[in-house]
Amino acid sequence: MDTAIPGQSQVATGSRFVRACLRQPVDSTPVWFLRQAGRYMPEYMAVRKHHSLLEICRTPQIAAEVTITAAERLGVDAAIIFADLLLPFTPMGLDFEFVNGEGPVVHQPVRSLEHVQALRTDRADELQYVAQAIELVAKHFASPRDDGDTLGIIGFIGAPFTLASYMIEGGSSRNYVETKKLMYSGSAAWPLLMEKLLTVLTAYAQQQVEAGADVIQIFDSWAGALSVADYRQFCLAPTRELIQRVQAMGVPVIYFGVDTASLLPTFRELGADVVGLDWRVPLDIGWQALGHATAVQGNLDPITLFAPDSILEARVNEILTQAAGRPGHIFNLGHGIVPGTPFESVLRVVELIRNSRPS
Ligand code: CP3
Repeated sequence: MDTAIPGQSQVATGSRFVRACLRQPVDSTPVWFLRQAGRYMPEYMAVRKHHSLLEICRTPQIAAEVTITAAERLGVDAAIIFADLLLPFTPMGLDFEFVNGEGPVVHQPVRSLEHVQALRTDRADELQYVAQAIELVAKHFASPRDDGDTLGIIGFIGAPFTLASYMIEGGSSRNYVETKKLMYSGSAAWPLLMEKLLTVLTAYAQQQVEAGADVIQIFDSWAGALSVADYRQFCLAPTRELIQRVQAMGVPVIYFGVDTASLLPTFRELGADVVGLDWRVPLDIGWQALGHATAVQGNLDPITLFAPDSILEARVNEILTQAAGRPGHIFNLGHGIVPGTPFESVLRVVELIRNSRPS
């Protein structure tokens, strides 16, 4: 059944999730959830009671346990390693913390060429704790499950723009004023920052692939804040370069962003294997905008999980109908599960997907 793919010899194809990333036929639409190990889940909250977010990320046994528990409780087809987008900031020399209710805070945001020049790119090895957690997760899920399918292991990194935005703004942002100011300034700061992030992210992704990640997801969560012209001028080249470097490691790449409908035709030029779609664009329209040149992942509105079952079922079915059984659809949400989401609704979506068959 499994066919060898030129240049993709390392790719495991005993996984319906990985097969869908490569647009190969599958027995059943693969499903997993963005932020499947998060605050909506009682098991995660029990661990969070005793450990901070960063402690969990930096302790391979705990990160692996959280990752495995979420994937098994939900019965999904992929496990995303428990980590955070901002972890590479520490070896780059940028201190940050998670402030309760506020999200990440970078104490000295990057605003000048001098500061960009001072960022270090030679300590990516300090992130090996993430690779160690992936090794534990890969070992745990090495054997096929009861249905014969092997669970996919997802490693992840941030995209240059989204990581730069946290570095420059110092946290989450609404208008990205400081980020765009630096981008537009014409100084060497932006290209140098892109180059430094590329160096660190390549090394970090390499560690994750060597540890057993089957697929790397690149989160460009906030790319939707950019106009098509700005994306093309300031972000397309470094992002495409990063994707190519990760693919050269022998794994498929999922590229994910939110509010990206107008950017989708440009995303074709990235060469990613899979593009994540949010719920604002109907899946078929989004896939068409990508020229059907990639697989797609998505795209249920995470807030639909708060709706009555009849609406939830209708929205899930709409997405499956729009995917139309075409190879290369991975069911997911358009963005992460939010705190307070009813756990049973998440399980219900898995059940609905399992009971459907790609036509
Ligand atoms: O199950 C999983 O999805 C894996 C774990 C994961 C986390 N962060 C742990 C986490 C993943 C994939 C991320 C990626 C991440 N981190 C992104 C990209 C994903 C996205 O949402 O678009 C971003 C933007 C970050 C940065 C970040 N981390 C922010 C902005 C926040 C605060 C927002 C919030 O939800 O509170 C975090 C905190 C964070 N990272 C949490 C988790 C489970 C929640 C807080 C906690 O448990 O204390």
